[in-house]
Amino acid sequence: MSTASAPGKIILFGEHAVVYGQPALAVPVNQVQATANVSQGKRETGEIWITARDLRRRYKLSRAGANDPLALAVRLTLDFLQLPITNNSFTLSVTSTIPRASGLGSGAAVCTAIVRALAAHFNASISHAQVSAIVFETEKLLHGTPSGIDNTVIAYNQPVWFIKGQPPEPFSVAQPFHLLIADTGIASPTKITVGEVRAAWEKEPKKYNALFQEIGAVARTARDIITKVEADGSRLPALGAAMQLNHELLISLGVSSPELNALVEAARRAGALGAKLSGGGRGGNMLALVTPETSAQVEAALKQAGAVRVIHAAIDDRLPTAEPS
Ligand code: MEV
Repeated sequence: MSTASAPGKIILFGEHAVVYGQPALAVPVNQVQATANVSQGKRETGEIWITARDLRRRYKLSRAGANDPLALAVRLTLDFLQLPITNNSFTLSVTSTIPRASGLGSGAAVCTAIVRALAAHFNASISHAQVSAIVFETEKLLHGTPSGIDNTVIAYNQPVWFIKGQPPEPFSVAQPFHLLIADTGIASPTKITVGEVRAAWEKEPKKYNALFQEIGAVARTARDIITKVEADGSRLPALGAAMQLNHELLISLGVSSPELNALVEAARRAGALGAKLSGGGRGGNMLALVTPETSAQVEAALKQAGAVRVIHAAIDDRLPTAEPS
């Protein structure tokens, strides 16, 4: 049996504007994972089965519809490996601890795990860029017009500075910082908010282009803060202020919600240096910048304000995962 896992992700700065060419910063979240197993059937049936326990589904690849991202991940990987789909028999099982439609990249993580498990099963080597390219195709099914940031940060499993259409740049974290990732518990498919922003942009391009540019400027400021060492203690408050500004701009884009705003407010009042929604918005997760001293009180405030789950994440200088040889 071959197994592979892939992490979730959070967008630190720049969601939505990244779809329109602005830069964004994202990091993997290894506390939540998607896992795929490939096992050879006992009998050679000439059939490929997909079991998605969390979705309570078990089906044959040959019966999967054209809009099934898991099936597309299998088909594209076999194609990449130059293996036939017919007369190939195995069972692919997928599980995930990443909440769906919550801004943590669950779709991209599941498909990344599938591609890697299949490559391992057939003893093939596949680069991060090749995995990311296959998963990007599945993201198009899930999201319509994705920027490519989710498949990139998850396939490379490292912090990335991302501009659509350009090779991703890993970024270094000069001094680690701590985030709480709090879930509203409201499922909100990215496809919907991305589609709504597109419709709004088509109606009022000038207004929305200006907002995208402002978000891009915040992402650039944030990258400077994160990657440079500051000895005078101004770094974390500046990062918190950038998060706050990014959240205000996302409200102006129309992708926040009363629930997300309540969590952002509660975090700020409890001592977080800054807070913002993360990902597609409307529901899903938000981030709060905390210190070891404020972490417990901010977590308690988030739960009191309705968070169904809080993850602690240290954002540090994770070394890039090695490319397979
Ligand atoms: C989703 O994680 C991030 C968005 O910017 C969409 C995308 O970049 O494809 C909302």
